[in-house]
Amino acid sequence: MVEPESGGAEGSEPAREAAAEAPKLTLAGVSVTYRSRSGDDVEAVRDVSFSIANKPGCGEIIVFLGPSGCGKSTILKCVAGLLTPTQGEVRLDGEVIEGVGRDRGMVFQAYTSFAWLTVLENVAYGLRLRGVAKREAHEAAMKYVEAVGLADSAKMYPKQLSGGMKQRVAIARTLINKPKLLLMDEPFGALDPHTRWEMQGLLVDISRREDNTILFVTHDVSEAVYLADTVFVLSARPATIVERVDLPAFTRRDLGLKSSDEFRAVEKHLLDLLYAKKAS
Ligand SMILES: Nc1ncnc2c1ncn2[C@@H]1O[C@H](COP(=O)(O)OP(=O)(O)OP(=O)(O)O)[C@@H](O)[C@H]1O
Ligand SMILES: [Mg+2]
Repeated sequence: MVEPESGGAEGSEPAREAAAEAPKLTLAGVSVTYRSRSGDDVEAVRDVSFSIANKPGCGEIIVFLGPSGCGKSTILKCVAGLLTPTQGEVRLDGEVIEGVGRDRGMVFQAYTSFAWLTVLENVAYGLRLRGVAKREAHEAAMKYVEAVGLADSAKMYPKQLSGGMKQRVAIARTLINKPKLLLMDEPFGALDPHTRWEMQGLLVDISRREDNTILFVTHDVSEAVYLADTVFVLSARPATIVERVDLPAFTRRDLGLKSSDEFRAVEKHLLDLLYAKKAS
């Protein structure tokens, strides 16, 4: 726990200024080694350090791109507070992360809605848990159900939904808690190419509209280029940062984008970084 400095009231001007200036997220020298009882330790992440600036009023998507098994999920779990780094620390708005918190919402590859609740009830669940009255919670939930394009399916149950629709529910369920960080671990990995493309477009729209910082894990280069404002290219295990690539803001967001020269050029740059590291 961080105590206010002696003499300084909580929320005082200097404290507020310091919070505004602190980066949104900082990883400082984060390393993770999984220890097993048989003594076969697995070094998953080695000395990862980076900062993401606090840009109020500006949604942002940060992508972690790396080969399978390199340690991507491990990094995300440290930010989620599901895992304590073996070395180093993770700070959110200047405060060291210790355990999970509602300020971080996580969307996994596997669908995570409750089978016995409707779409609307699933999305309202977090608010109901916090004691918000049913009518108010459902009104708020409906806004998020609409935002992810499921207004016509609000009364359906998860088993009646396609994979893409289920992931929309998971995203809406997370967004309603207004997390500072939305953590997404290959959330579209199980979807067919067309649905995946639709969901990528939806995510870009949401990030701009909801003013969210999204950390997104993938091993799909094209997905990284389409979504990201910034890409961290990771090495094979143990994950280290090969390069931070700040992407251009593409002027178009239509079906032709992925075959455009500017898109292909960024894709090639990221592929070169991934393969150069593997070859060495
Ligand atoms: N709980 C655990 N105990 C031991 N080893 C683990 C544990 N979790 C992950 N690992 C190992 O750590 C390494 C990194 O795993 P991680 O899940 O972070 O990779 P990833 O990049 O997310 O992989 P993928 O792309 O396949 O999802 C792997 O070698 C994995 O086997
Ligand atoms: Mg993973």
